[in-house]
Amino acid sequence: MHEVVIAGTGIFTPPDIITNAELVAAYNAYAHRQNALHGAAIEAGEREPLQMSSEAFIEKASGILQRHVVDKVGILDPGVMHPVLPERPDEELSLMAEIALKAADEALTASGVPVASIDAVICAASNHERAYPAIAIEVQRAIGAAGFAFDMNVACSSATFAIKLAADMIANGSARAVLIVNPEITSGHQEWRDRDCHFIFGDVCTAIVLARGEDVAEGQGFTVLSTRCLTDFSNAIRNNNGFLRRTREGHMADRRDMQFMQEGRKVFKQVVPVVVDLILGHLADEGIAPGDLSRLWLHQANKNMNDLIGAKVLGREPSREEQPNVLQDYANTSSAGSIIAFSKFSDDLAPGSTGVICSFGAGYSAGSVVVRKR
Ligand code: COA
Repeated sequence: MHEVVIAGTGIFTPPDIITNAELVAAYNAYAHRQNALHGAAIEAGEREPLQMSSEAFIEKASGILQRHVVDKVGILDPGVMHPVLPERPDEELSLMAEIALKAADEALTASGVPVASIDAVICAASNHERAYPAIAIEVQRAIGAAGFAFDMNVACSSATFAIKLAADMIANGSARAVLIVNPEITSGHQEWRDRDCHFIFGDVCTAIVLARGEDVAEGQGFTVLSTRCLTDFSNAIRNNNGFLRRTREGHMADRRDMQFMQEGRKVFKQVVPVVVDLILGHLADEGIAPGDLSRLWLHQANKNMNDLIGAKVLGREPSREEQPNVLQDYANTSSAGSIIAFSKFSDDLAPGSTGVICSFGAGYSAGSVVVRKR
């Protein structure tokens, strides 16, 4: 078995930022319009008026202060309420591949791994902009890699599940190095017209290069000690959009269930114990005491959720340094969240330090990666 190393990471952050104040102003303008439009039905008691959103609620319930998006103009237009992106000819690079390349360039440079060593490209994300050909194959061609490429989707756990696959391939010798990209254009499947969730998501792309230990400079990167993946079916986070849509009567209409839906409270309550058990079980299998962990890079969905998971894993309140959050700046970026945290907050660790990258979300799904600084 070969040593597997996370040799480099990269992040592409879209320049457009939406603050909570801008988001709430746009949503409330939309809600006022809707209530005026349906005034008679509301008056007659046939329809509930839309309630206003609030910055104070968003910050308290989630810890999110702002999000980056690929297009803020459409999202903030009360007459549109979604990103507006120009259609591209088939010959042009697709948007997911474009942002994947930006993150991949950074990760490849940071890793020092030549493209010639990349045997596999995995595009792991919670949505893919088309059914086929795979975005990963487009990225593979654009970077000039040989080997093979494929797309995969395990929602918010896509990146950690991809690390598991890449690590297994490198360990057993079926790939020398693997590039993972996580282009998350969550603004496309977020429902910006629903105050319960309109603040949750943001757009980003992360990239990870994994390689054989012997191909990475001494002292560089993090050795992947082991990985664990877990799934347990739940409808509490669901999106019914899919290729059978047109076959079902009424499904081409503007339906709520064609975007992200969740029962937030239920998810919070059910997922926290699953994640805590996963991490503690994984550490126990590795013979690592929770007290020996230097860092927890958790999925970035909700600050309160992360505080609770961190406290249960460590048996005390983690410091900000031990468990860095990026969701205040990025919101929930689905599979990319824990990778942003890892990428931004890992350079300072001393050789031999141990940490856990952990993601969780729809499925339910959860992935845990135990790493050690070289
Ligand atoms: N502004 C003001 N009030 C709002 C609001 C908004 N934007 N959105 C909801 N509210 C209201 C609700 O209607 C509810 O009112 P009620 O008490 O009169 O019924 C109240 O605020 C509380 O709403 P609730 O949904 O119970 O809030 P919460 O504390 O559970 O926080 C989440 C909501 C989504 C932030 C939280 O449940 C969460 O993060 N869950 C985990 C989600 C997760 O990890 N998902 C994975 C996604 S990949």
